[in-house]
Amino acid sequence: MGRVVVVGVALTVAAAACVFASVVVGRRVRSRRKWRRVLGVLADLEEGCSTPVGRLKQVVDAMAVEMHAGLASEGGSKLKMLLTFVDRLPYGSEKGTYYALDLGGTNFRVLRVQLGGQRSSIMEQHVEKQPIPQHLMSSTSEILFDFIASSLKEFVEREGDGSQTLLTRRRELGFTFSFPVKQTSVSSGILIKWTKLFYIPDMVGREVTECLEQAMSRKGLNMRVAVLVNDTVGTLALGHYHDADTVAAVIIGTGTNACYWERTDAIIKCQGLLTTTGGMVINMEWGNFWSSHLPRTSYDMDLDADSPNQNDQGFEKMISGMYLGEIVRRVLLRMSQESDIFGALPSKLSMPFILSTPMIAAMHEDDSPELTEVARILKDALEIPDVPLKVRKLVVKVCDVVTRRAARLAAAGIVGILKKIGRDGSGGITGGRTRSDVKIRRSVVAIEGGLYTSYTIFREYLHEALSEILGEDIARHVILKVTEDGSGIGAALLAAS
Ligand code: BGC
Repeated sequence: MGRVVVVGVALTVAAAACVFASVVVGRRVRSRRKWRRVLGVLADLEEGCSTPVGRLKQVVDAMAVEMHAGLASEGGSKLKMLLTFVDRLPYGSEKGTYYALDLGGTNFRVLRVQLGGQRSSIMEQHVEKQPIPQHLMSSTSEILFDFIASSLKEFVEREGDGSQTLLTRRRELGFTFSFPVKQTSVSSGILIKWTKLFYIPDMVGREVTECLEQAMSRKGLNMRVAVLVNDTVGTLALGHYHDADTVAAVIIGTGTNACYWERTDAIIKCQGLLTTTGGMVINMEWGNFWSSHLPRTSYDMDLDADSPNQNDQGFEKMISGMYLGEIVRRVLLRMSQESDIFGALPSKLSMPFILSTPMIAAMHEDDSPELTEVARILKDALEIPDVPLKVRKLVVKVCDVVTRRAARLAAAGIVGILKKIGRDGSGGITGGRTRSDVKIRRSVVAIEGGLYTSYTIFREYLHEALSEILGEDIARHVILKVTEDGSGIGAALLAAS
């Protein structure tokens, strides 16, 4: 009897053990399957974002071709290739005190620059930066410009120059307005459309300088807009002031864009355009560049479809700070829908733009063994606590793939400009392969924007791609120079020249 009981208990225990083991094994199998699905999402992302040098060269060629098309006729390309009427870049003989306003990114700047009149002698500069209150970005033009004019007035008064400026002598102002503007002169132009975070419909199609001057006069400021420039143009001006080999300028910040010095005879859409220097700065508005060679994923398509400016700013949506965090968020959301990497689907992960680009930069550059910064950001920004190390590593990988593509595409864009102006060592757009008889000139590209200046890995990827595309020998002649606050200071310089 006793033996029967013992055997029965043994059998029951064995059966329970079997059930337990099969539950554990089943769970492991399911979790491995889910993890494989997540890795599948990652592999698809990597493939979709891949930028081998062959593809980058196709993007280079497409950029150069589109530049030609945009210069040939109005609307000839998605690249607007806008005239700026800046036909002389500052050389250093500029003298006097100038003010500038810089509006376009997340911050707004007011500047005062004192120029000494000798080469590269900025005797004094004072820059004040403040974030633009979010509600102003979608208010009315009057509210926005009144805010700007008030800030300028306070700045001028604080600077101790108030009485003179406000009441007597009229001051010249450089206005950096970093949106696509169809310029009618060096100091006037019409807003074509808003980009980045701004959306103020009553302003589209209106004369930008007029809006600012009316607001300044409402505030009692005796100032005149001497130049209206894009941020790329200000950056080029400052770059050229310091180094006369500066041929182009690029911004990679909240938005992205480039401008460069072009010969007037190449601006075919404006036949008969005459300038004393035979050239003019062209604002490319490269954020709107598009080519079938760009590596586009389903995340990019969804982001575009959900954006207020569908089918616009395609290049910008793959490159600039406004969008990189959002692309990463979309990938992480897909991963957590495919599996339970973050436990139950975290509600914050479904909120558009909750993950900013500075956050992905911080996660990407987290070099602690336990990825503590990644854990902190996931917890603080997305309310996802206790993420296992293996998942934190995966998050870093996603940031890497998205950032690497952005940096490499920006590099291809830069080489596209160099190709157009015959400074890529290939002898120009029709030149084909590098020729040994082509003399390589030193080409400086002035560069600004937080993505380049503050995100080290982004900057390294961009440089690496430049060398891959151009080859080490030619890349040595291409110098990217950061021009801090160039967009605003450059506008003051242009106002002076
Ligand atoms: C704007 C450009 C600007 C760039 C960088 C883009 O969204 O369209 O005009 O230069 O951002 O600020």
